[in-house]
Amino acid sequence: MAEIVMGFGTSHGPLLATPPEQWDLRANVDRRNPELVLGAGTYNFEQLYELRKNDGYEKQNTIEVRRERHARCQKELDEVGRRVIACNPDALLIVGDDHHEWFKNDIQPAFSIFHGKEVFNRTLTDEEKQDKISQGNGYAMQIYHPPTDEIYPCPQDLAAHIIKGCVNDNFDITALGEQPNDNGVMRQLGHSHGFIYRRVLNSKPIPLIPAAVNTYYPPNQPTPQRCFDLGRAIARAIKSWPGKERVAVAGSGGVTHFVIDEAMDRRLLDAMKARDWKTLCNEPDIHFRSGTSEIKNWIVLAGIISETNLEMDLLDYVPCYRSEAGTGSGMAFATWQ
Ligand SMILES: [Fe+2]
Repeated sequence: MAEIVMGFGTSHGPLLATPPEQWDLRANVDRRNPELVLGAGTYNFEQLYELRKNDGYEKQNTIEVRRERHARCQKELDEVGRRVIACNPDALLIVGDDHHEWFKNDIQPAFSIFHGKEVFNRTLTDEEKQDKISQGNGYAMQIYHPPTDEIYPCPQDLAAHIIKGCVNDNFDITALGEQPNDNGVMRQLGHSHGFIYRRVLNSKPIPLIPAAVNTYYPPNQPTPQRCFDLGRAIARAIKSWPGKERVAVAGSGGVTHFVIDEAMDRRLLDAMKARDWKTLCNEPDIHFRSGTSEIKNWIVLAGIISETNLEMDLLDYVPCYRSEAGTGSGMAFATWQ
């Protein structure tokens, strides 16, 4: 029977690839964002600053603090990579979310799993690069996507087995038999998956099973409980595979952003560490909006972990503030072994 030998969670936000001196590129996007979300509230930048002006975020947004926090993140990204490479799994299932990479406005599956032969992480087109640069993501694109096309192999039969197992467990998964393309031009591999392959694994082609949750786009985002239960179904499916594969599982993205909510991050990370699944699943769904919704990828991961005896090692939690209103990205790095 296949075995789940390791789990890991990592943030993947653009600040991880952007020099601290340039974080204002993203802060300037925050200043123009009319829908900055915090808890159940939605604010523009001025309203958010008014709400949080006594919390002292200026002091956490100096260049010295930015540099120290950026360095901590780099150290832990390297450490997660080292642990995965040392574990040397036969397959890696990554739970991510799609930012209109494979899926567009026409169709947005709540849950999907790829069971094709391979995925392409291709270089970006000039048009895609321009779009990223305008959003302050110019540095990030260099880390999500390679300078020349890369192809990652996929364990087709295992992936198809996981899909079937989930269906038998009452999850009607959208199944992708090949990478979506437009007239033969492959749609770009999602940033959730590309970040892990490029930055964490240094492009080591561990056979990949890309899974995606629509955490972001209304109206069909699954609830936290549903995400957790999907993780349990995935774990049961992996464990029922007759092969001897050693499988690693990952959650990509989060934690709170583009407004950092340290209390929420701590609450959910602590719940994962304590295997307090009830607290995790009872977090109100309205708290999972915008970038913060990516924590649901970690909740699917937690559901998988709940079916194992693996223990969480929270390597670090780093609130990377980039403005006086407390915008930025909460960054978390953890492994389960
Ligand atoms: Fe993301």
